[in-house]
Amino acid sequence: MALNKKTRIKDAAFRRCLSVVVLTLLGVFLLIFLFQTNTVSDNEIQYSNEIDQDCELTNNYTQLRREFNLPKQNELSILLEKRNQLPPINLDKFPKLAKDHVTIVLYVHNRPQYLRVVVESLSRVVGIGETLLIVSHDGYFEEMNKIVEGIKFCQVKQIFSPYSPHVFNNSFPGASPTDCKDKDDPIKQPCKGNPDQYGNHRSPKIVSLKHHWWWMMNTVWDGLKETCHHSGHILFIEEDHFIFPNAYRNLQMLAALKPEKCPNCYAANLAPSDVKSRGEGWESLIAERMGNVGYAFNRTVWRKIHRKAREFCFFDDYNWDITMWATVYPSFGGPVYTLRGPRTSAVHFGKCGLHQGQGGSNSCIDEGMVNIRVEEIDKAGNIDPKWGVHVFEHQAGYQAGFRGWGGWGDTRDRELCLEFANMYHLRDRTSP
Ligand SMILES: *[C@@H]1O[C@H](CO)[C@@H](O)[C@H](O)[C@H]1NC(C)=O
Ligand SMILES: *[C@@H]1O[C@H](CO)[C@@H](O)[C@H](O)[C@H]1NC(C)=O
Ligand SMILES: *[C@@H]1O[C@H](CO)[C@@H](O)[C@H](O)[C@H]1NC(C)=O
Repeated sequence: MALNKKTRIKDAAFRRCLSVVVLTLLGVFLLIFLFQTNTVSDNEIQYSNEIDQDCELTNNYTQLRREFNLPKQNELSILLEKRNQLPPINLDKFPKLAKDHVTIVLYVHNRPQYLRVVVESLSRVVGIGETLLIVSHDGYFEEMNKIVEGIKFCQVKQIFSPYSPHVFNNSFPGASPTDCKDKDDPIKQPCKGNPDQYGNHRSPKIVSLKHHWWWMMNTVWDGLKETCHHSGHILFIEEDHFIFPNAYRNLQMLAALKPEKCPNCYAANLAPSDVKSRGEGWESLIAERMGNVGYAFNRTVWRKIHRKAREFCFFDDYNWDITMWATVYPSFGGPVYTLRGPRTSAVHFGKCGLHQGQGGSNSCIDEGMVNIRVEEIDKAGNIDPKWGVHVFEHQAGYQAGFRGWGGWGDTRDRELCLEFANMYHLRDRTSP
């Protein structure tokens, strides 16, 4: 009854205000229209003169440490920072980079059995001699270093994260004796640290992954004289990504086609975002959500990501990729697509998690297990520039609103992360 009465009153009100409603609706439609136009133009990534930044890099660490709130370094940390300034190797054999080269960054932890496989796959990549390969290490591991020093097929530069938790054995960012552990309560038992949203304290080995990724991103875009003038794409791969011989040529093709075929694509990918997929095999390009295997983008996109440092560094999830999907990309205000071919050019083969593979003798790889067959069609570029683009809309995955898996609750980790975003922008800080 009550419901009925309400409905009738509403009915009457509706009839009386019909014209008002129609007008309002018109207004709403107009607003939606304007809003959409607005987001669309927001989506078109602006070309800006930030490309022409003059990279005024400092190698005065005394000054860096004074300006920024970076952890106190030990000898190894300082040594690594100096080593990062060394020029690439193999300059005698490959004195020049091709004009349209795509720099390749391979970021690694401590899984030498994997790294050997990746390096072997890279040695067969067509065109690799035209570019610079940067290998970014999360800490210093002699065996990893040796493998990279043995590379002969292109210019190679190694960089080592000097603030990796692996470089500090008894102080932050490593584990310090006074730190809270697991679910310690700092009130009951005096210790240092903030728990994450699930009540757990930081684990240095786990936070090292996100720290390394962010340090590496900031360093290769803004902190190296070899790359700070690079205006093209940079490709990012990991130590458990098998790279097909056609990867480089396909990527160059995708980068060249992107502005015309998919102006709203932020990146190009070597592999589908579903890491188990090897592609559809269609005669078409694919635009889909950003994947985390073999992704490449340019400096314009990096500047957009860098502007979201706060979102990245304060999100309580220790995974860099989930952090990007759940906070950074959604903050761009529209779907963040990447362009790829219909057949994969990279395969994720890692079977063991990073935490298992590291250190000690309990490495979890079965030697010689990697058995990826490269078919004839994947040995040379196999993307046809005449193809159209198939767009995968509304794919499942992490979205804005996801609160994170935790592991990233400690204020010190968040601050260090922010310092990584600031440390190559000395001038911005010192100028008023
Ligand atoms: C490094 O910076 C500090 C502080 O700005 C300055 O005192 C020092 O002379 C600089 N060292 C070099 C080698 O430029
Ligand atoms: C920590 O590292 C220092 C050198 O950086 C070394 O002298 C010391 O023995 C190490 N301590 C432990 C517990 O590994
Ligand atoms: C970088 O890529 C974005 C997205 O594809 C594009 O809008 C922009 O024009 C590119 N910038 C340069 C300098 O090519």
